[in-house]
Amino acid sequence: MRPWFEPSPHLRNTIQIRDIFPDFASQRKDTMKTDLQKARILLFLFWLLCGSSGKIWIGSRARRGESWGGCPSIPNGVNFRKKIVQCPAADLAWKAQSTEDGPNLARLQKRRRGRMYTSKELMEMEHKYGAHNYHPLEVVISKAEGIWVEDPEGRRYMDMLSAYSAVNQGHRHPKIIKALKDQADLVTLTSRAFYNDRWPLFAKKLAEFVGKDMVLPMNTGAEAVETAIKTMRKWGYLVKGVEQDKAEIIVFEENFHGRTTTIISFSVDPDARDHYGPYTPGFVIVPYDDLEAVKRAVNKNTVGILVEPIQGEAGIRVPSDGFLKGLERICRENNVLLAVDEVQTGFCRTGKTFAFQHEGVDPDIIIMGKALGGGVFPVSAVAANENVLGVFKPGTHGSTFGGNPLACAVAMAAIDVLVEEKLADRAAELGKYFMEGLRAIQAKTDKIKEVRGKGLLIGLVLNESAGKARIYTTALKDKGLLCKETHSWIIRFAPPLVITKEEIDRALKMIEEVFVG
Ligand SMILES: Cc1ncc(COP(=O)(O)O)c(C=O)c1O
Repeated sequence: MRPWFEPSPHLRNTIQIRDIFPDFASQRKDTMKTDLQKARILLFLFWLLCGSSGKIWIGSRARRGESWGGCPSIPNGVNFRKKIVQCPAADLAWKAQSTEDGPNLARLQKRRRGRMYTSKELMEMEHKYGAHNYHPLEVVISKAEGIWVEDPEGRRYMDMLSAYSAVNQGHRHPKIIKALKDQADLVTLTSRAFYNDRWPLFAKKLAEFVGKDMVLPMNTGAEAVETAIKTMRKWGYLVKGVEQDKAEIIVFEENFHGRTTTIISFSVDPDARDHYGPYTPGFVIVPYDDLEAVKRAVNKNTVGILVEPIQGEAGIRVPSDGFLKGLERICRENNVLLAVDEVQTGFCRTGKTFAFQHEGVDPDIIIMGKALGGGVFPVSAVAANENVLGVFKPGTHGSTFGGNPLACAVAMAAIDVLVEEKLADRAAELGKYFMEGLRAIQAKTDKIKEVRGKGLLIGLVLNESAGKARIYTTALKDKGLLCKETHSWIIRFAPPLVITKEEIDRALKMIEEVFVG
């Protein structure tokens, strides 16, 4: 048995009690109280003997920032700047600070954050040291709250992109950040080699939330899509009885499901696909919103259909009413699984919890990501009933970080915020209002061809004569509104769902100034 006072091994930067009181090393938990008394007496004597150049506190639950028992002295030569000694079993903690605490903290702060750089310096640094796989708008964000972000110079901008729908709950939602901090004080990562006390709760919550038997946790959206692909294939071989290595999945032109090698194998976007071959086989690409093409593509080897209910990256392409219902029918008639990629459209973005609900569809597999992480970090998952997700057995699929306690705590808070703040209703109502405002602007200019979308996932399609969308996203940025072009001629507006009507009015004013003058 480990001695009760043994600090956790990771607290390398700490003073250990046994360094000060070696005889404690032979003691056990049952003598803890006496030892504690001894420690206090010894420490008091220790303080009396020493010069007065610092402070020591014996703290109870120092990890929560509480302390008691002041002692204004530490001996020279003992490095009490090493911060906390923790004896978890005994719930005893030591906190030592030198009298130079203020400057120390200031130095620590400086060491952690480095000096303040200007936006220009930061952009140059990124350009020099970061791979150029993005072409960001020229703005550096160093702070954010709700729908507002700020650059290092203190300029504020309205965020109308929400990290591609990953910040539906608004930047740094207090409830989500509290869950993050609380959980960070307990346990953050265990891997699934062991059970942890958050994943079961999150699994139950998410499964009940989406109305499926079970869920499988991953991290990024692409990983969840990969999981859905593996699920469909395994189900095809084990349940449907498709001949080995013959499984086919139907996907759609202009799809965007992520960046892995398998996923880009069925992309039709040359930027995403070119020079990454050899490509993964087993995908049949058909035109989006074309049920007849889907029917023609189905055969005995078809195991699944993978579809975005609205094609976000393709420029907020909303399919005709009945498209998803038609896909569901084809799936039922041919014993094929319907997998709906709700990574971008899910979690209230389109005015319903999931976009497939607009058509009352019941997909076999729901793929989720982005806003499930509450704008903090990637949390993704696949949900399905047991007859589908039950194909996985131990060792057949996994992820070191999937289902980690920190992610689970954050994701549970992220779901609570969506429900408590009725963000689906809000997106439906404000999305309508925003689109009406945009259509009123469209009526005043020939630069805008179409306003389309659902809820607060809105695309502004420009006429070719208007020039590239980048001109307008840059002009809007200069006015204080951040949004992003998708392809060269479409601008996407997808603000955090906590946006207010007044803020939409402000956005519309800026958009009108840019497009109408
Ligand atoms: C519909 C859809 N699926 C999957 C992904 C991939 O998600 P991630 O970037 O988290 O891998 C995206 C990302 O934009 C997406 O829009």
